[in-house]
Amino acid sequence: MKYGDRIRNKELASKITTAEELAGLINDGMVIGVSGFTPSGYPKAVPLALAERVKNTGEKMSVSVYSGASLGPEVDGAWAEAGIIAKRLPYQTNSTLRNTINNGEAEYLDMHLSHTPQYVNYGILPKVDIAIVEAIAVTEEGHIIPTTGVGNTPVFVKQADQVIVEINMKKPLALEGMADIYMPQNPPNREPIPITKPDQRVGTPYISCGIDKIAGIVITDLQDKTRPLTPVDQVSKKISANILKFLEKEVELGRLPKNLQPIQSGVGSVANAVLYGLCESSFENLTCYTEVVQDSMLELLRCGKARMASTTSISPSPEGLVQFEEEIDFFKDRIILRPQEISNHPEVARRLGVIAMNTALELDIYGNVNSTHVMGSRMMNGIGGSGDFARNAYLTIFTTASIAKDGDVSSIVPMVSHVDHTEHDVMVIVTEQGVADLRGLSPKERAMEIINNCVHPDYREKLLDYYNRAYESGHKHTPHILEEALSWHTKFMKTGSMK
Ligand code: COA
Repeated sequence: MKYGDRIRNKELASKITTAEELAGLINDGMVIGVSGFTPSGYPKAVPLALAERVKNTGEKMSVSVYSGASLGPEVDGAWAEAGIIAKRLPYQTNSTLRNTINNGEAEYLDMHLSHTPQYVNYGILPKVDIAIVEAIAVTEEGHIIPTTGVGNTPVFVKQADQVIVEINMKKPLALEGMADIYMPQNPPNREPIPITKPDQRVGTPYISCGIDKIAGIVITDLQDKTRPLTPVDQVSKKISANILKFLEKEVELGRLPKNLQPIQSGVGSVANAVLYGLCESSFENLTCYTEVVQDSMLELLRCGKARMASTTSISPSPEGLVQFEEEIDFFKDRIILRPQEISNHPEVARRLGVIAMNTALELDIYGNVNSTHVMGSRMMNGIGGSGDFARNAYLTIFTTASIAKDGDVSSIVPMVSHVDHTEHDVMVIVTEQGVADLRGLSPKERAMEIINNCVHPDYREKLLDYYNRAYESGHKHTPHILEEALSWHTKFMKTGSMK
């Protein structure tokens, strides 16, 4: 494959080789740092070559895999299937890998995404041996120009002994200039991050690496396997309408400006519905300070309601990706790709006054949220960046449909079976039933606000009954009946329904 202007150094051009040869650098027991964030910008050719080799030879291979967030099936799927992954962090969404995590074959460290680069930098995690990085180009000096997902690539490249580069010819060179790479020093030398507006550029358009560190380059044309578009259903539309009404009221009350404050949005059907809803709203001149841009956020930029988005990854659906690449000149000036340490940084989220909107699996009457563990112990995806934003935003909203599993599960329960976001972080809860504004309320006041406004009618009386009996039976600050608190879950596990 002709690489044209993508390798801008002769010495580096001589390092072009095959994916199989580069996979040969990976040995049993190594720590591999992989580029990419949500299936976007991750390497494909070398991981596939390694999985193939292990499958064919049956050799013993067990590695730790660090990434920005979830990766495509060429890494998480193929490596989990080949039994290569001993430990994985900080996030995943792949069903094969999820099974190996839940059946105990792979260890999984589900962590705040803004913490991963610190853990790597401080040496808390075992050191990265090899970084495998997708790039659109390498510069004369051997610096790496990332593709559509920056994630933790800068810190992996910094820490790794060797860097393998996959130059992806499918990713347009026009992406060059979108990245803004800023890396904070470790304390005590850390300076304030100089971002006071979401559209400020504070770093370099490349990831510093250097010629000597690059062990080899492979030229590929494998497209990201991004997730298909999640359809917006009626429940999501209702949740979206409830959020928009709530935000309009906040503007009316003078607690938010007319163009709101920078928006962070999670992924999935509800997030899509909210962002599509914003396209139809009266809000103008919006900005986004988030970790992932999907179809709906691209649409928010396209329709002119939002003027820019700061993110660490662009991860639209397969059709959305084609359209994004066709319109790249439009988006180039409107999207900034930052390392996840910066896109998710508590300092910046708090300073900018982000409005954080994320999804819960379940929540309880006092406002604690479980986003990760079904029935307390089965890992779904991970906390991702939701905690980075939830703790530090100006306004922290969690959404969920009030029921799941055709009504056999109430998403609002007496006590959550696992806690990701505590009652201290969660400010507003929105279901298709309504909005519970928990700000300034005591636990008992919160319980009434949630039960009255957000719970599905099928479960409202039952939850109220639990709360009233808990209030009568013990301490009055956060009333609970411990032997009953998780009985809704155990009932579901025994009978298939919480009813
Ligand atoms: N108990 C048991 N199962 C439940 C449940 C509950 N309370 N709530 C939902 N589920 C099930 C659904 O039935 C569905 O099951 P299925 O896959 O068998 O159909 C599954 O969980 C996913 O539910 P769905 O409503 O489709 O979820 P989603 O796509 O909106 O995702 C999260 C919801 C919480 C899983 C997802 O947002 C997530 O992983 N969040 C954590 C990471 C994060 O917030 N990142 C934000 C920054 S991008």
